[in-house]
Amino acid sequence: MNIALNERQLEAVEFRDGCCIVHAIPGSGKTTAVVYRIINLVKTGVPPESILGLTFTRSAASAMKEKLADVLGESASRVSLSTIHSFCLGFLKREGKAFDLLTGKDQIFFMKKVLKQLKVKDIVPGMAIRDISLAKSNAITVNDFKALYEGDAVMTKVGEIYSAYEIEKEKELLLDLDDLLFMTYRLLKEDEEIKEKYQQTFRHILVDEFQDTNPLMQILIREFVEGFGSESSFWVCGDEMQSIFSFNGSSVGAILHFNRIYDRPAKRIVLDINYRSSPEIAKACENLMRHNVKKIDKELRTVKDHGDKVLVIECEDEKDEATQVMNEIHDLVNRKGFAYKDIAILYRANFQARVMEEVLSENDIPYRIESGTSFFEKYEVKGMLDYLRLINNPESDDADIALKSIVNIPNRYVSRAFLSELETFSMQKGLHLYQALRTINIKVPFLKYNIKGLVKFLNPLIKKANNIGPSEMLKVLRISLDYDQFITQDEIPSADDMRIANLEQLELAATDFDDIASFLEHVDSFDGDEGNNEEGVVLSTVHKSKGLEYPAVFVINMVAGLMPYKNGVLEEERRICFVALSRAMRVLHLSYPKIYFGKPVMPSQFLSEIRDSVQG
Ligand SMILES: Nc1ncnc2c1ncn2[C@@H]1O[C@H](COP(=O)(O)OP(=O)(O)O)[C@@H](O)[C@H]1O
Ligand SMILES: [Mg+2]
Repeated sequence: MNIALNERQLEAVEFRDGCCIVHAIPGSGKTTAVVYRIINLVKTGVPPESILGLTFTRSAASAMKEKLADVLGESASRVSLSTIHSFCLGFLKREGKAFDLLTGKDQIFFMKKVLKQLKVKDIVPGMAIRDISLAKSNAITVNDFKALYEGDAVMTKVGEIYSAYEIEKEKELLLDLDDLLFMTYRLLKEDEEIKEKYQQTFRHILVDEFQDTNPLMQILIREFVEGFGSESSFWVCGDEMQSIFSFNGSSVGAILHFNRIYDRPAKRIVLDINYRSSPEIAKACENLMRHNVKKIDKELRTVKDHGDKVLVIECEDEKDEATQVMNEIHDLVNRKGFAYKDIAILYRANFQARVMEEVLSENDIPYRIESGTSFFEKYEVKGMLDYLRLINNPESDDADIALKSIVNIPNRYVSRAFLSELETFSMQKGLHLYQALRTINIKVPFLKYNIKGLVKFLNPLIKKANNIGPSEMLKVLRISLDYDQFITQDEIPSADDMRIANLEQLELAATDFDDIASFLEHVDSFDGDEGNNEEGVVLSTVHKSKGLEYPAVFVINMVAGLMPYKNGVLEEERRICFVALSRAMRVLHLSYPKIYFGKPVMPSQFLSEIRDSVQG
């Protein structure tokens, strides 16, 4: 890594003691400045241990660490550089706090229990979790919350849930993600000794993507920097145009109101040369952002040579779209010298990756899914597939594995002890598990009842399996198992829920196949590792792509309802689209299907907003 920094970048990198805020446009070298600044600090004698760098995504943190290691070698590992959540996790563990993390599905189940205990029926777990998380992001405690909403019947109820949720968590030594931050904050606030220790340790704090910090993060960071005197610095960079995390309570105001939060003079440096993108791509970004009211007007100056125009591709449907994208990728790799990993395909929500994943896989194009789990491995999808496997051929090894996976989906209170008893029994009799399940003698009444129910449910489906298609079978399963409700833990599952969207995608995928066996064969042709190829094309949501850059970017499914997302706030959605476009260095292709999910859809309004800078 060897870049000739421009004057302003140098100023930001070499800034010494005090407070500094770097305001910038995308691709202007903010992240580069963070890395160079850390290098510069270390090279000028600052101990690596006293540097704390905070980033927003894990992928950004590891990309930066790699660059640091290139230059600093071993001492790079002594710099603290991570996301704020993993920093807090480490902090609490170091301070001897014993706890387990409560996240994802576990958190929903946990909340469900709390709601049951309080006999609350009209607030769904997901909603309660969101409300409480938002409160915590704003550093609002249970007591604050109750005081704040006195007289408001609904919010008072949420306040009670908040209170009970905290008590129950404490009993089981659990912390949710917001607690990591909140606990760290309170520990620093309440324990002078600890605070002093850390203030002594970390003398130089840097925050990348500061626009996405929420108020809790801001006051937490303030605890670290409050006592800073000489030979210490607090340095942040950000771009309010890229603020896309309003759902976690961050606000565009963080940068605009920096002074009010930190109450100290800060040096401001503006970086306004874009080194990443071609002028054509920068122009598309600029045109798009012109439509937002809330922004600081900034021109995107570029230094890169002119490149290809931004291409808009109209497609018949999502299959056609995926195929066209795949063809373009072929062209980029085989004729234009791009490597697969130079190319990213971005979309708004995870479920949108499914068709793309299938087409890439069928055509042996290596790829990597940024969310980690490939579509057919997702919990809600895998559950349905295991039912299909069992129904398709109950007398098989596949079905044995599937049976064990679905026996408690939804919960039938089947214990591990019973399952191992069942396995022993099946081995003794030389039976597959399902047949063993039908014949084994069960003594515990409720278990007997539940297992009988399962067999009674499955038998007719097994008989029908040869006569109905996989898509229809999935429909039947979802309805009769009340599967959507089980997956979401919501009384009335909402169509907006990503897990429901994934199930819809699964059904859609199945419509291409006449029988269950061939659909399963298709599914099994994904070997699980496929979406994992480090050298492959990157498939990622826009949110996960933040801070990264790619020589070629495809933004797919640019249709109304997906981009902008249907319930989203328009200005925020536009910033999300802006983040997507501004990841691109040389090639940017935007595509949209005319038919999606079998229904006609409108092209995204964002396409016409950037129209004069594109071709197609
Ligand atoms: N002074 C410079 N000269 C040439 N390239 C630069 C310079 N500063 C940054 N870059 C390059 O521009 C691209 C964007 O930089 P990055 O730090 O990721 O921007 P930001 O964080 O502001 O979006 C990177 O490829 C980086 O190497
Ligand atoms: Mg960056």
